[in-house]
Amino acid sequence: MTITTCVFDAYGTLFDVGSAARRLAEKPGHDRLAAVWAALAEDWRLKQLQYSWLRAVTGQHCPFWQVTQDGLDWALERHGLADDPALREDLLALYWELAAYREVPQMLATLKAMGKDCAILSNGSPDMLDGAVGSAGVGSFLDAVLSVEDVGVFKPARAVYDMVGARFGCTPDQVLFVSSNGWDAAAASDYGFDTVWVNRAGLPMDRLPGTPRRTLPDLTRIPELV
Ligand code: LAC
Repeated sequence: MTITTCVFDAYGTLFDVGSAARRLAEKPGHDRLAAVWAALAEDWRLKQLQYSWLRAVTGQHCPFWQVTQDGLDWALERHGLADDPALREDLLALYWELAAYREVPQMLATLKAMGKDCAILSNGSPDMLDGAVGSAGVGSFLDAVLSVEDVGVFKPARAVYDMVGARFGCTPDQVLFVSSNGWDAAAASDYGFDTVWVNRAGLPMDRLPGTPRRTLPDLTRIPELV
């Protein structure tokens, strides 16, 4: 089946979620953060995701911004930085202008030149996604930015993946879904999308019902697949 629609996860896939802590740690006066930023960023991300899954299975949905703050508060406490409210505010502010991975604009431009529909499908709330898309300068390449807020449950609920067909009128096998989250790519495969897991960190495959169709180290070769 010909791929008509390329759909991307946002956080960790197009936008570098580690860039908030890294960029702040590079600034003068942030020695305490500089000592722990990588572990803090990893814990922040892990807790953000765990809270999203737990809220999905318990039916206690909230905006992604809430679990983003809750995950950061856990991570700041773990790393002995909970006594610095200004640091918390600075890290949260940077989350609205995360860096896109270097290959993103060229990759999206190529897909658009090939006539493909391109979209984001993300846990992020519309305002967070607007901020990230705007600061990365990739809005002109996107036909839609789909947020789980429209269905009121986080990934990997199937209702989230249903949003793609509802928006573009395509069948699942016409969709190439790309995510750096192994669990997201696995669930999307199980749903029926063609999938790519972008495994930048060289992690083992998640043991879940679906298996990503392909694995790539970054987004550069995505246009070759469609
Ligand atoms: C997202 C998270 C899962 O953008 O990365 O949906």
